[in-house]
Amino acid sequence: MRLKDYLAQNIQGVPAEYLPSHAKLMDRVALVRLREEVKGLKREIGNLILRFYNVRAVYLVRGVEGVERRPRLELIAGEPIREVTHREYGCIFRLDIVRLMFCLGNSFERLRLAGLVSDGEIVVDMFAGIGQFTIPITVIANPEKVYAIEINPEAYAYLAENIRLNGVEDRAQPILGDCRRVAEEELRGIADRVIMGYFWGTIEALSPALGALKPEGGIIHFHDLARRGGEREFVENVLERARRMGYRVELLGWRRVKSYSRTRNHVVIDFFATRI
Ligand SMILES: C[S@@+](CC[C@H](N)C(=O)[O-])C[C@H]1O[C@@H](n2cnc3c(N)ncnc32)[C@H](O)[C@@H]1O
Repeated sequence: MRLKDYLAQNIQGVPAEYLPSHAKLMDRVALVRLREEVKGLKREIGNLILRFYNVRAVYLVRGVEGVERRPRLELIAGEPIREVTHREYGCIFRLDIVRLMFCLGNSFERLRLAGLVSDGEIVVDMFAGIGQFTIPITVIANPEKVYAIEINPEAYAYLAENIRLNGVEDRAQPILGDCRRVAEEELRGIADRVIMGYFWGTIEALSPALGALKPEGGIIHFHDLARRGGEREFVENVLERARRMGYRVELLGWRRVKSYSRTRNHVVIDFFATRI
């Protein structure tokens, strides 16, 4: 039975279209978004979701905020469980879901990226989070080294823990700091591939990302939000910015990672860049 039907059966007098069609599950926890019309019923809905999925906590997702992309969650049923261990494609991700972000909707992108990495590559993961890209790349592919840079000490602590949990300490190095400075100074000219998995100002990190590439060039994975229908223009703008920074660029491809809002999509651009 679908969640929506289960809720409709158990809550009288609410049109089914106002009820959530699913919740996202991580470990023993369910995360759900609710329409304004039914937020007054959040506790009732939360308790039903608890039973439907047989989880121990249900959180209402209210959004994400700030440079560090902190989730805004409210416990609406069950126990205040915060630390979860999520498994995906043979990788283990541990995190505090109340403090840190892990987007289940980016799951295919994580696998896709790991599939692109060739043996022996040096990779710089600029906005590493808790290791969303670093872990699959080091577990599934065979890079020489992934430098994973994270500015938030709480996310960094989980990044370091996830590297240990997955047994990839020899190939992944966590670095606490601002990726713009670290890429510019410590990791200059070393990378075959740079991942820019962030939105809200990714473009400001483009120059250090390009600077981290090897002199013979390398690949950038540039993530950002693009206006729906305006994706091609967005791609061209990013490439033009790289050209103006003195790089020859070759577009390898771009894809919609997921729908972000009614007006915007999360897009990733893959391009090869060489210093002219
Ligand atoms: C939303 S998470 C994304 C994680 C992962 N890259 C992904 O795409 O799933 C973005 C992370 O970038 C970190 N961050 C933001 N600005 C940063 C900076 N200047 N240097 C390093 N990390 C930064 C945030 O703290 C956050 O953990």
